[in-house]
Formats: sequence, C-alpha cells, structure tokens
Amino acid sequence: MSMGKITLTIDDRQVEARQEMTILEAAKEAGIYIPTLCHHEKLELFGACRICTVEIDAGGRKMLVASCIYPVEQNLVVKTRSENIDEIRKTILEMLLAHAPGAPALQDLAREYGASETAFDKEPSFCILCGLCVRYCAEVKKKNAVAFGDQGPTREITFIPKIASRECWNCKECFALCPTSYLQAAFFLTEGLSFPQSSASAEG
Ligand code: FES
Repeated sequence: MSMGKITLTIDDRQVEARQEMTILEAAKEAGIYIPTLCHHEKLELFGACRICTVEIDAGGRKMLVASCIYPVEQNLVVKTRSENIDEIRKTILEMLLAHAPGAPALQDLAREYGASETAFDKEPSFCILCGLCVRYCAEVKKKNAVAFGDQGPTREITFIPKIASRECWNCKECFALCPTSYLQAAFFLTEGLSFPQSSASAEG
C-alpha cells in the first residue's frame, strides 16, 4: 500500500481513497451516490444539513456521521443506505419541506425517502440554511454580499444592500446553487427596496 492510500468498504465494495478525502468524496469517485444539500466541492467543509448521513463501523464502533465532513480511515466500513439512515434522511427532509414546501431539490429526495410534506407544521421561510450562497459569495467571489441574518430561530439569509447593489448585478452565480427559490426572491426584494436605480439601469 503506497503512502496516503486508504482502502475502505462502501456498501460492500472495496474502495480506494486518498488520505485527505472525505467519505463523500471517496464514494463519489467510486460512483456511489450519497445525497447532499449543503455541500459544494469548491467550498470549505460545512456539514450543516446532515442529509448525507451514513453509517460507519470503525473496528466495532458504529456511528452515524455526515459523510461530507468525515474523513476516510483505513478499513472503515461504510453503509450509505439502511433503515436507520433512510429514517434520518426522511425526517430531515420533512423538516426542510416545512420551510421550503415545493422546492424541487427537496421534492425529488422526498420521493426517494418517502418524506411527507405535511409531517410538520409549515413555517415557510423558503430558506433551508444550507449556506451555499453565503459561503460561495465569501469564499469564491470574496464579496460577502449575502449573509446569515441574525434573527434567532428564523435565521435566514439576506443580501447586504450596499454590497449587493454594486456586486450582484453582474454575478448572480449563487442563484444556481440555491436548492429552493428563496435566494432569487430575497435578491429581487432587496433590489426592489434598496437599489431600484441599478435594476432600471441594468435593464436599459
Ligand atoms: Fe453533508 Fe449537508 S451535505 S451535511
């Protein structure tokens, strides 16, 4: 075995990985699908949504871990589906669907895991706090035009009008990352309220 190479088992298959990889990356490279919502390969590890939860057995120690942040280990045994895992994913989806009913990215997963839209009382905020937009804007674009608003349990993302009016018009790269329609709506609201001038001039 060469330095840095690791062998692990994912869904009964022997998989080779490099030491610095996460379980998610090792699975992906082996063509094994694990669902994700808050993960993006260009961004720092985050591990917030937990939809990527898998079961690991490291020498008899069984645990549920978020595969997008958990590093591979030699001889690790990973299961990406089980009754337990599916149940966790179902519950996560049901909670998220209460926030973002109708979001296409969630609907597809909901069908797969039998999650019901009506399991929890709806509190539509349309933001599932995956933070993809906030992190992408900060880490990749280095603009910080989107931020987590500080509103306790109803914490949502907001555009910072002063920065957004300058930076967002020519970018909008975060729009495609949003698993719900929240981001676009938040942008157009900010735009309408805070910098109507720039929208008029950009269209002309
Ligand atoms: Fe791993 Fe969100 S994708 S925690």
